Amino acid sequence: MPGAFIVVEGPEGAGKTTLVTRLAARLRRAGHDVVEVREPGGTPLAEVARRAALDPELLASPVAELFLMLTARADLVAKVIRPSLDAGRVVVSDRFDLSTEAYQIAGRGLSRDAVLVANRLATGGLKPTLTLVLDVPVGVGQSRLRASGKAPDRIESDEAELHERVARAFSEARGAGVKHLDALAGPDVVEERAWEVVETALGKHWSGKRVQHRTGR
Ligand code: TMP
Repeated sequence: MPGAFIVVEGPEGAGKTTLVTRLAARLRRAGHDVVEVREPGGTPLAEVARRAALDPELLASPVAELFLMLTARADLVAKVIRPSLDAGRVVVSDRFDLSTEAYQIAGRGLSRDAVLVANRLATGGLKPTLTLVLDVPVGVGQSRLRASGKAPDRIESDEAELHERVARAFSEARGAGVKHLDALAGPDVVEERAWEVVETALGKHWSGKRVQHRTGR
């Protein structure tokens, strides 16, 4: 893919949305063509799936919740993310498939193998160039959420143990392109640290592409 795909992940109240907005602005100032998205959401169909998944009255079961998340992802990848990457843009996403591992596998206890297969179908195998995980202790995230005064959605108001399993899964996440940031630091510090990681990752990504191009691989 000629473009680059940056994902910001973490538990509720970690500051993902603020960081996505700030990173997108910095990338634009650095001359990149940037597309900002959030998951679940970002297309008309994905927004319908988001509302259904988060509506407290619809009581989606864990498996139904998984398929609503993957409906949203499949549509967003096909209509927005892939075409943007093919056109050389930098896509910055508020959540992607690490959230499915944290919420549906660790949180809800669904079969890891089954979820990973279904997720691969939804993404067509697309992997982020970089996944930035914002680490906050679960109590801090939840109290930031309460302080925001916003009415909690179905998942936000779920039992505390779910959010503990989710926060643990995020903090233990490892793998290619996964980098952790301490989100207890203020938003300016988090932005500076995130920017250093993004610059390094993009530098490696673009230089790898040039080598592949020259060697024909
Ligand atoms: P947001 O409020 O951070 O936009 O996220 C929406 C909710 O959806 C949040 O509670 C996490 C949840 N979610 C999943 O359970 N699985 C997923 O794969 C994604 C992307 C989000």
